[in-house]
Amino acid sequence: MTTPGIPEDHQQGNSRSTFRRIVEFQGVRNLSLKQYRSHVQSLYDGPAGAMLSFCSFLSLHEPLVGHLLKSGRFDVSQHRRILDVGSGAGQILGHLLQTTHPDTQLVAFDLSHQMLRRARTRLNSKRPRFFAGDLMHLPFADNSFDCVTCGWVLEHLPDPVPGLQEIGRVLRPGGRALILATEDTFSGVLCSRTWKCRTYNRTELENACARAGLPWKEQLWFTRVHKFFRLGGILVEARKPVSTGAEPEATPDSAGDKLAAAGSR
Ligand SMILES: C[S@@+](CC[C@H](N)C(=O)[O-])C[C@H]1O[C@@H](n2cnc3c(N)ncnc32)[C@H](O)[C@@H]1O
Repeated sequence: MTTPGIPEDHQQGNSRSTFRRIVEFQGVRNLSLKQYRSHVQSLYDGPAGAMLSFCSFLSLHEPLVGHLLKSGRFDVSQHRRILDVGSGAGQILGHLLQTTHPDTQLVAFDLSHQMLRRARTRLNSKRPRFFAGDLMHLPFADNSFDCVTCGWVLEHLPDPVPGLQEIGRVLRPGGRALILATEDTFSGVLCSRTWKCRTYNRTELENACARAGLPWKEQLWFTRVHKFFRLGGILVEARKPVSTGAEPEATPDSAGDKLAAAGSR
């Protein structure tokens, strides 16, 4: 039985869900789409966004993502078209520049224009193309990417499913998504206060991914220590199933046309 007014995922009746209900930032769950977009833009355009890359370094998230990619536990070396959604200060993108083939098309996408500017300045590379917009309406053709990375973004969405469906739409059949999200652990819930976002428990996020057509393939951990103590948040590889129908795949050219039509910034 569910209690009206309390989100379903908070109704587990254990101390963890009570802590989550009391401490977690709830604001994002009740916002309209318009309010949500201006909430994210003002947060990341402002001082919090300016501190983002420093905080990712301090919390070790940025080097740990680098370790995950460089060690090949999430191998991107074979992909030729990669979209980094919610690229922020370019924390994942910087590692993609180092771990991918020089011909790989890298696309950075974020709701905050200011974060895109910061990423461009910080990375100082001509390779990525930068696009501003909302993950829930990606301006790219169906099946246009081999791989999508989405680090610490879904926790900003009032509902993750529309964003995940968009990721699934732009991935080619068999394409892979690396999804990183804040978990409903003690540290994750505190983090939600700082970054004014929500958290997920694993079952909830797995169900959302399944509903969006992106079933989980493998759960990942930064290190064995993270796995043992269940630290570091939810890290997962999801895959778009290979379609059985005669669905045409986008050619690199048609993907490029669509990118150009969307107008990079
Ligand atoms: C915590 S930062 C993550 C940065 C980086 N991906 C990382 O791994 O550290 C979240 C980023 O997601 C962006 N974001 C939030 N909601 C978004 C949406 N609906 N569409 C696109 N970007 C979004 C924010 O502007 C912010 O730059």
